[in-house]
Amino acid sequence: MAGPFELSPLPWAEDALAPTISAKTIGFHYGKHHATYVKTLNELVAGTKYADMKLEEIVRATAEKTDEHKIFNNAAQVWNHDFYWRSLTPKQSKPSGALKAAIEAFGGEEKLIKDLAEAGKAQFGSGWAWIVSKGGKLAIEKTPNAANPMSKGVNCLLTVDVWEHAYYLDYQNARPKYLEEVLAKLLNWDFAAENLDRESQPVRAAA
Ligand SMILES: [Fe+2]
Repeated sequence: MAGPFELSPLPWAEDALAPTISAKTIGFHYGKHHATYVKTLNELVAGTKYADMKLEEIVRATAEKTDEHKIFNNAAQVWNHDFYWRSLTPKQSKPSGALKAAIEAFGGEEKLIKDLAEAGKAQFGSGWAWIVSKGGKLAIEKTPNAANPMSKGVNCLLTVDVWEHAYYLDYQNARPKYLEEVLAKLLNWDFAAENLDRESQPVRAAA
């Protein structure tokens, strides 16, 4: 059915991340899983107050409401997947500027990647691992199922999906190998820099 939300286009071709993430994985992950979250969300919000809200607003408004968990799960999964696709790139650049300084303050890129991988491995069952920024200070978080730090007002820089559907076709049960490969080869530091910069704008304006 038609609805207010649409499946955002991928920022690259389905085979662009191969062989780290195959076109087959992207085809199922984007074309089936992500698409189904969008379709289900549209069905759930039809005729409700949520039909006129932005996706982020729905995620925040329903995050703590147990009676709205279906809407939250689908809205958050749409947001998480939009964010995940943009967190990955086949044309990786090195962190620079404010992002590079924030990474150095964290303890360096190697430590950041290692901690992100550990968070992804440690997430029991389905979920997400995140690089977030709190006042320009980087941190690593992990969330179960559809949950995300954004719903709590935390600025997300990058995410990696650790649901089995993200890696099973390519890595079977080897989530650590998937994390090792993706975090070494595909993280979109330009997207992270954009997200960090967005957070620092009001601070600079007020200074
Ligand atoms: Fe996913």
